[in-house]
Amino acid sequence: MLYQNLANDLLANIEQGLYRPGERLPSVRQLARQRGVSVSTVVSAYQHLETTGQVTAREKSGIYVAIPAQRQIEAPEPSRGSQPTQLQMSDTIARVFAQNRYPDRMHFDLAVPAPSFQPAAQLKAAANRVVRHHFNDSLTLYPSPGDGELRRLIAQRMLACGCQVDAQEIVITNGCQEALLISLQALTQPGDVVAVETPCYYGFLQALESLGLTVVSIATDPVTGMDVQALADDLQRWPIRVCLCSPSYSNPTGACMTEAAKQQLVDLAHRHDFHLIEDDIFGELAHGEDHLKSQQDAFRREQEQRPRPLRAFDRHGRVIYCSSFSKSLSPGLRLGWVAAGEHRLRVMERQRASTTGTSTLPQLQVRDYLKSGHFDKHLSRVRRQYRINIELALSVVAEAFPEGTHATQPQGGFVLWISLPKSAPDALTLLDRAQPEGVCFVPGQVFGLQGLESCLRISVAQPWTEELEGALRILGRLAGDLS
Ligand SMILES: Cc1ncc(COP(=O)(O)O)c(C=O)c1O
Repeated sequence: MLYQNLANDLLANIEQGLYRPGERLPSVRQLARQRGVSVSTVVSAYQHLETTGQVTAREKSGIYVAIPAQRQIEAPEPSRGSQPTQLQMSDTIARVFAQNRYPDRMHFDLAVPAPSFQPAAQLKAAANRVVRHHFNDSLTLYPSPGDGELRRLIAQRMLACGCQVDAQEIVITNGCQEALLISLQALTQPGDVVAVETPCYYGFLQALESLGLTVVSIATDPVTGMDVQALADDLQRWPIRVCLCSPSYSNPTGACMTEAAKQQLVDLAHRHDFHLIEDDIFGELAHGEDHLKSQQDAFRREQEQRPRPLRAFDRHGRVIYCSSFSKSLSPGLRLGWVAAGEHRLRVMERQRASTTGTSTLPQLQVRDYLKSGHFDKHLSRVRRQYRINIELALSVVAEAFPEGTHATQPQGGFVLWISLPKSAPDALTLLDRAQPEGVCFVPGQVFGLQGLESCLRISVAQPWTEELEGALRILGRLAGDLS
């Protein structure tokens, strides 16, 4: 039969590596044209390959070469919390980040989208329009809180994910890191106790260390995030003023709290009179947004949609929301924001004392880009790509890493948390061995105070190439050899 011949041809192309796992196959119409057959022959051939598991159809997106079934990889164990501590981590963090200096290596360490995962052409067009029509404005100082129209557009996007914010409370910042820092400054004094997840983004720890704050780390599950009951217990023991957290696709684990847990966390903050500083930088990168199927169970559906931020559950002004365009558009823009609620004036005061405000040109550029209506199209493309890259990375981890390796399977974002078996070397030692072989990653030690020595974070926000896959295999081999 004609469709079977076509299916066999396609299969041969896949086996020869012409189409690689995770890659999109030609559309039905393209293939019909290329091979001189009818559309229904192509549809039957693709249906046949889907039944035999060689390809997968993704709603509104196309037909993709299936990613080989993985050995089932379990998620790492939940972490334990720790007592209040004054941090001294800058040296370790600086040592790890020295690896950024080697462009010829394979970089799993950089948690930012590669240029090809940024909407470069559209951002360039937006910049050109600003230069052509608003150049004099771009030379003007826009002090804190920043451009009013950009703040209105951001408030609109936040409203769309359930957050009742007023554009007046938004302060434009130099990336999310400044948003976090000035929010912490607005709410704390040196020596205050701040709770964080374990592991958490090392930038949290850098900010806390630089402000002389005391850190208590809360037990955290690598899939469902912070253990709210553990935080409730710690509130009985320590005078926690602020909890700094990433409830939706945390860095480094990709964990996402359930809506029920988010509601509990916000209620807890209200009852115990502390504030939550929410980092939602990965919130827009839910993988499943474009392929939701009605038969999926409620938990999975909840995990796959753009998660509602903590802020959407807040009725008492407990949550200060921070984010930026660094993961969703481009890290070079250095454009973020805080929705600071009643703390807006203090946050602005902190910003004026440090950077005065954010550069005008990127504000006008992003304002123009958001108005062009392209952002959602871009998000739809990269979400799909990140999902595929995470699946590809996990299939390599399953094959090439030693028995007993665990890893998270995030439903959003582009970072993956791997825990090596007890017999493996600690992650800093592994990094020392991996670098001469041209492979960079971030060892677990920089994401928390203790108990993360056998873990590593890899970022897959870059085109998946044979070299990249080879580099991940090298890492797996080294972990195995050294075990
Ligand atoms: C969780 C998280 N928060 C904040 C930041 C800092 O973001 P920005 O580059 O916008 O300052 C990062 C960057 O890696 C991050 O991963």
